[in-house]
Amino acid sequence: MEKIIDESQQGTSLVLEQKTENTRKLFIESYGCSMNFSDSEIVAAILLKEGYNTTQNLEDADLVLVNTCSIRDKAEQTVRKRLEKYNAVKRINPKMKVGVLGCMAERLKSKLLEEEKIVDLVVGPDAYKDLPNLLSEVEDGRDAINVLLSKDETYGDISPVRLNSNGVSAFVSITRGCDNMCTFCVVPFTRGRERSRDPQSILEEVNDLWSKGYKEITLLGQNVDSYLWYGGGLKKDFEKASDIQKATAVNFAHLLELCAKTQPKMRIRFSTSNPQDLTLDVIETMAKYKNICDHIHLPVQSGSNRILMEMNRLHTREEYFELIDNIRRILPTCAISHDIIAGFPTETEQDHQDTLSLMEYVKYSFGYMFTYSERPGTLAARKMVDDVPEEVKKRRLDDIVQLQRQHSEIRTRAYLNSTVEVLIERESKKSKHEWSGRTSQNTVTVFPKEHYKIGDLVNVKVTDCTSATLIGEAIDYALD
Ligand code: SAH
Ligand code: F3S
Repeated sequence: MEKIIDESQQGTSLVLEQKTENTRKLFIESYGCSMNFSDSEIVAAILLKEGYNTTQNLEDADLVLVNTCSIRDKAEQTVRKRLEKYNAVKRINPKMKVGVLGCMAERLKSKLLEEEKIVDLVVGPDAYKDLPNLLSEVEDGRDAINVLLSKDETYGDISPVRLNSNGVSAFVSITRGCDNMCTFCVVPFTRGRERSRDPQSILEEVNDLWSKGYKEITLLGQNVDSYLWYGGGLKKDFEKASDIQKATAVNFAHLLELCAKTQPKMRIRFSTSNPQDLTLDVIETMAKYKNICDHIHLPVQSGSNRILMEMNRLHTREEYFELIDNIRRILPTCAISHDIIAGFPTETEQDHQDTLSLMEYVKYSFGYMFTYSERPGTLAARKMVDDVPEEVKKRRLDDIVQLQRQHSEIRTRAYLNSTVEVLIERESKKSKHEWSGRTSQNTVTVFPKEHYKIGDLVNVKVTDCTSATLIGEAIDYALD
């Protein structure tokens, strides 16, 4: 009630109208990949229309939603711990309802309702538009579930409510699902088949973000380079499309160009690229437009050809090197990052050495490194034995992490004494007198605030660094 009075005092009747209607409070939190964070913004938009405003305070919530990740067992365990916490809060506030969204909802389905008594609502990644109906079932005292996967849902018609936003950078989702079937990965099962979003709605979102003051977007998909719009429908049905549809189809290079041209001052990032789909066209488009950032996240998973094959990654080590060489030739200053898995079934010491030597070749700027976690239902779980002992997986992961640390340091030090362009995103965590932002290559940079402000693009002279962060002084505004 207090909040409503405060906001009405601020003025416009529009604000008053919306807030007085929206009396219910939603606490929503997300785990896992960027796509989950982006999906939660879609969910918040759907529920805003149903009378929910978001709150940062779990204790205040009428509805608690957790957007979950199934990628590794540890991710699921983290969510189960959060459910225990919600349980404790529910003891104080028994009217609070709890829903599980995202990949765990899709993977476990009604089992979640049986195993976790606190859960009232289970909703898979393609069923968020059904939330209003599901919530009314819950209000009537029934558990509710919808885990149907869709052939065409992209939420392209929903304008996300930006959550925890710095007002500078935003995610724009461009594809959903994945058709790749890497043998270790649960995503194709939890997020369904791949489909792309209408480029028109993507461009509208980009324009809208620019008009609201955003300066950077990240185009998101499990596999962005596989983006293909031919009027809607699954990627795998493209062959059945008409000649006109085929002739007017928009691929990722084309979409990237459209975005770069539509808002020439908006910084554009994208993630994730699968090596098998990243084409020369995309690399050349990046070279053509200054506002497309100089960074490619290019997960490799392993440096061994035998393991790559077992993983159903559709390229060899040699083809990966060729791609790296092309990137370096066309985009000499481009940062490249990776995902690597240590201890996939049957991985030998020699396979592990192949991973380390691949890393030596590329000298990645940074990366995300994991031990293999068997996921129920995946091909690897069904056909292979998880036979690398846990301590061996951990030791190999440690080798990979150590080597990456050395490479990150080399890459970061190379910027010493140079001038880099930084988009200011927030106050530095270490000092309230300093700003923090990122370079085009995605390297975090901190420097004294002076008269600059969040959202400014500034030239920073690099005077010092840690293994992953640049330290410097702003020289002036970077004007294009
Ligand atoms: N294309 C996706 C990749 C999804 S998962 C994207 O957009 O990010 C992110 C990373 O998690 C993968 O690249 C892989 O390195 C890791 N991963 C996936 N399944 C895993 C498993 N079963 N065990 C360990 N790591 C896994
Ligand atoms: Fe997973 Fe491979 Fe797709 S890692 S998300 S199945 S590209």
